[in-house]
Amino acid sequence: MAQDLAGETVLITAGPTHEPIDPVRYLSNRSSGRMGYALAEAALRRGAKVILVSGPTALQPPAAAETIFVETAQQMRTAVLDRWEQASFIIMAAAVADYHVKNISPEKIKRKAALELQLEPNPDILADLGSLRHATGKRSPVLIGFAAETEDLLENARSKLTRKRVDAIVVNDVARTGIGFDSGRNEVTIVTPSEVMAVPEAGKLEIAQKILEAALRIRQQQVAPVPASTSSADL
Ligand code: PMT
Repeated sequence: MAQDLAGETVLITAGPTHEPIDPVRYLSNRSSGRMGYALAEAALRRGAKVILVSGPTALQPPAAAETIFVETAQQMRTAVLDRWEQASFIIMAAAVADYHVKNISPEKIKRKAALELQLEPNPDILADLGSLRHATGKRSPVLIGFAAETEDLLENARSKLTRKRVDAIVVNDVARTGIGFDSGRNEVTIVTPSEVMAVPEAGKLEIAQKILEAALRIRQQQVAPVPASTSSADL
């Protein structure tokens, strides 16, 4: 395997978040963490230092990764913002819950006829990173987000690419069975401002390698010297 990520630090988020309702219940989603863990494994195989910020999963993280376990979106945000400046590549595969419960009950909620939960939006970690990177005026780290979509995949990916100020969005169709959430396989399209790359269905480790190859190409394009303009003396 080419050691083309040697000397690089790759920060990856993986898994769902759990947003507590009371001491025994939470809101979450179907993410198993497999896509993010496959990215961590793939980056390690290419020689990178890997920081894995993981929501709750049943998986064993790669031993060589520095793994930070979190539960909620707010904890994931803190873990990512504390470390993002160490990274040369950031890939956000986590399925972060979009909402948390406003008033978490300190006691187990008793069964009653109906229960209303008031939800508040969580911070958008990827968009926050996009803004932070923009504010520093730097193009590094390469910033890649995912999009879990059930319709209008490309349109929604392009909208996230612009709105969250990222270098690429990896969009997957989470309405399809056998790929995406809680499966060993995936099929994705990598959308950048100038390209749309279809990656056919494969195991998540293989998909992860394709994403890393795209990330490296983005990096090369960012550092490629701008061709010198023709001066009038050359004419
Ligand atoms: O974990 P697996 O079972 O292997 O499944 C993999 C996956 C389907 C979860 C993964 O491939 C995937 O699509 N991850 C992104 C899921 C998601 O939350 O998509 P989104 O379209 O809601 O979010 C877009 C991007 O913003 C994502 O990079 C997400 O990490 C990020 N985000 C979202 C909400 C939020 N509050 N903060 C964020 O940073």
